Amino acid sequence: MEFSKAIFQVFDLKTMIYGVILLFIVIDVFSSTSITKDPVTIQSNAISSPPHSLAIILKPSNTSFSSIPNLKNTTSVRKRPICDIFQGRWVVDDGRSRPSYPPGKCSFIDFNFDCFKSGRVDLNYTMLRWKPNGCRLRRLTRRKMARFLRGKRLAFVGDSLSKNEYQSFLCLLTNDAAKKKKVLVVKKSNVFQNFGFESANFPDDNFTVDFIRTPFLVQKFGGKVQLDMMAKVSEDYKNADIIVFNSAHWWRHRITNHGYIYQIGKHIYKHLSPKTAFKKSLRTWSKWVDANINATRTQVFFRSFSPVHYSGGQWNSGGNCRGENFPITKLKERGKFELQETLETALRKMSTPVRYLNVTTMSNYRKDAHPSIFRGKTVNETIQDCGHWCLPGVPDSWNELLFTMLMDHGQQK
Ligand SMILES: *[C@@H]1O[C@H](CO)[C@@H](O)[C@H](O)[C@H]1NC(C)=O
Ligand SMILES: *[C@@H]1O[C@H](CO)[C@@H](O)[C@H](O)[C@H]1NC(C)=O
Ligand SMILES: *[C@@H]1O[C@H](CO)[C@@H](O)[C@H](O)[C@H]1NC(C)=O
Ligand SMILES: *[C@@H]1O[C@H](CO)[C@@H](O)[C@H](O)[C@H]1NC(C)=O
Ligand SMILES: *[C@@H]1O[C@H](CO)[C@@H](O)[C@H](O)[C@H]1NC(C)=O
Ligand SMILES: *[C@@H]1O[C@H](CO)[C@@H](O)[C@H](O)[C@H]1NC(C)=O
Ligand SMILES: *[C@@H]1O[C@H](CO)[C@@H](O)[C@H](O)[C@H]1NC(C)=O
Repeated sequence: MEFSKAIFQVFDLKTMIYGVILLFIVIDVFSSTSITKDPVTIQSNAISSPPHSLAIILKPSNTSFSSIPNLKNTTSVRKRPICDIFQGRWVVDDGRSRPSYPPGKCSFIDFNFDCFKSGRVDLNYTMLRWKPNGCRLRRLTRRKMARFLRGKRLAFVGDSLSKNEYQSFLCLLTNDAAKKKKVLVVKKSNVFQNFGFESANFPDDNFTVDFIRTPFLVQKFGGKVQLDMMAKVSEDYKNADIIVFNSAHWWRHRITNHGYIYQIGKHIYKHLSPKTAFKKSLRTWSKWVDANINATRTQVFFRSFSPVHYSGGQWNSGGNCRGENFPITKLKERGKFELQETLETALRKMSTPVRYLNVTTMSNYRKDAHPSIFRGKTVNETIQDCGHWCLPGVPDSWNELLFTMLMDHGQQK
């Protein structure tokens, strides 16, 4: 499978252009914070049947969440039957939970993820739901999620795929139409530090969902990625109650391809492989998590790599996924992603229990679910996006996995 991080740079360039344009507006917004009132309609849902899920922590040693099985022993005692929620298949929903929200109707979705608004007419990709072998995912309802999140802050931290996931989450929470609830959205950005921030506050239920854009997790100064220093923005999210990290795509290309220089201390590394650079950044990240995150208060998740599906070329040489209307039925290369092992190894070494949102394989089936050319106004129609996901779509299922893991953990306490 071809991979290209470069498409993410295309979007970054776009963001940068916006950033330059917005800068004057954004600067005075920085202190006062612009508030967009976005009244949304919400109702409560029927309680879905309890799932029987297995949530995974990659750390084989003791953790504070002792009743959650770790990788060494996935059959430890549970009150309910368990199953690996990441092993399963995509099934056509009976229409009750898919589409997760009406296509083109959720105002939180960026134009480049809103495939329906961008003219994609086949909607089969919105009708699939992830079905683990041997159990069901919990159905994410606003009522249950809001009850769980009351008084809390959830942060999605990482690159534009985290934004994809964040926007899906907001749409899932504001889907229902019976009761009007307010959502206050605050946006900030500082393009020069490659930093973006979006925060959605639900005042009626007193919780906040954030997206924090920090694709490397570590600090970036202009074109230099400082591998031994966490991004300053980490101060802003370290006290969140739930953090869902992600970082992968930006590490995939050699520095020569995208102009970044890796630096440790004052030393500049000219020939670091993506794998080594990623590994070093994860060391910085994991040491920081172990030292700064209070695991009693904060649940830490790491979402695994989100696969891309370019065929017939790279992102910039005619690679495409347009016209893919069916998922892959049999994966040839299961879980062969070069940075995956690096990530899993790093997570295993940590003293903080980090829960692994292992979405790579399940997402890898979904070659049908990328925006391709249906990504808003494009700079160049020939360049397709086969990396992000249309919404409604695959990230909705990631959030149902997250919800299931949160709920099952909550019940064990
Ligand atoms: C891990 O748990 C076992 C059994 O509960 C206990 O004997 C051991 O001391 C624990 N180890 C650590 C490092 O907490
Ligand atoms: C896993 O845990 C179960 C229940 O505690 C135990 O019976 C089983 O022997 C363990 N398996 C391994 C491989 O440790
Ligand atoms: C992640 O999920 C895939 C698919 O279920 C599985 O093959 C793989 O072993 C999982 N990885 C880990 C570390 O649990
Ligand atoms: C909202 O949540 C915060 C953080 O837990 C808490 O300090 C505050 O008292 C809550 N406000 C209300 C109105 O419940
Ligand atoms: C960690 O969080 C818990 C629960 O909020 C709190 O009781 C404890 O004091 C915190 N520990 C530290 C070291 O801040
Ligand atoms: C669009 O991109 C392709 C491939 O990079 C290039 O050949 C073509 O000239 C570009 N078209 C426009 C209008 O910029
Ligand atoms: C959508 O799915 C139906 C049922 O599987 C199929 O008949 C139809 O051809 C699909 N549409 C597209 C555009 O692939």
